[in-house]
Amino acid sequence: MKRTVKIAPSILSADFSMLGSEVRKILSSNADWVHLDVMDGHFVPNLTFGPPVISAIKSQTPLPFDVHLMIERPEEWFEKFKTSGADRITFHLEAVRHAQRHLTQLREMKVAAGISLNPQTGLDGLEYLLPFCDQVLLMTVNPGFGGQSLIETIVPKISKLRGMIDLMKFPVLIEVDGGIDANNAQRIFNAGADVLVMGSAFFNSKDQISLVKGIKTTCITL
Ligand code: DX5
Ligand code: ZN
Repeated sequence: MKRTVKIAPSILSADFSMLGSEVRKILSSNADWVHLDVMDGHFVPNLTFGPPVISAIKSQTPLPFDVHLMIERPEEWFEKFKTSGADRITFHLEAVRHAQRHLTQLREMKVAAGISLNPQTGLDGLEYLLPFCDQVLLMTVNPGFGGQSLIETIVPKISKLRGMIDLMKFPVLIEVDGGIDANNAQRIFNAGADVLVMGSAFFNSKDQISLVKGIKTTCITL
């Protein structure tokens, strides 16, 4: 199946003192989505931001807001994140008991529904959820912080999930998050990823336009 890559810069690595202009850089670089990492200090050992910050920057760009909830009881927050501007919401399988119910709730709210798996969480059982998902986010680092190195053992997991999705023919995007950069992007895309989240590699880059162009040129199937 023909695939093209999408790039989702994560504002976790942006300069928080000027978030508006940082978000505008994502559009001018030709990237595709804005990735927003929400952390609660419980599900992950870090705290970031919530709906007020997201609604404050929503007006800065027409790009889709891809909200990654690294929080306990994410379902209690869906409505507030949708109101603040989330177009896509991903919650962690490890944080809920009734994933199918919550995926369905998101779709009923007209929000793209995503489920995320920590590095150690297997793909078993995911086949039952794929019909209810718009995206599966595979963590390629332990969630909580930007700037970590990709855990190489997750690369075969990406390929395995690609195989499952292609076999079942559901239009589910595979998103990968953590340690993605210009050096490994093509390999990760070839393993089966559709959406590359990029925090430090994007915001530390001195030439974001060339970075995105380079990745989009190499990450394409014929
Ligand atoms: C980590 C977050 C990531 C983070 C990625 O828990 O989910 O989205 O921003 O940052 P990099 O690309 O620097 O690994
Ligand atoms: Zn993320």
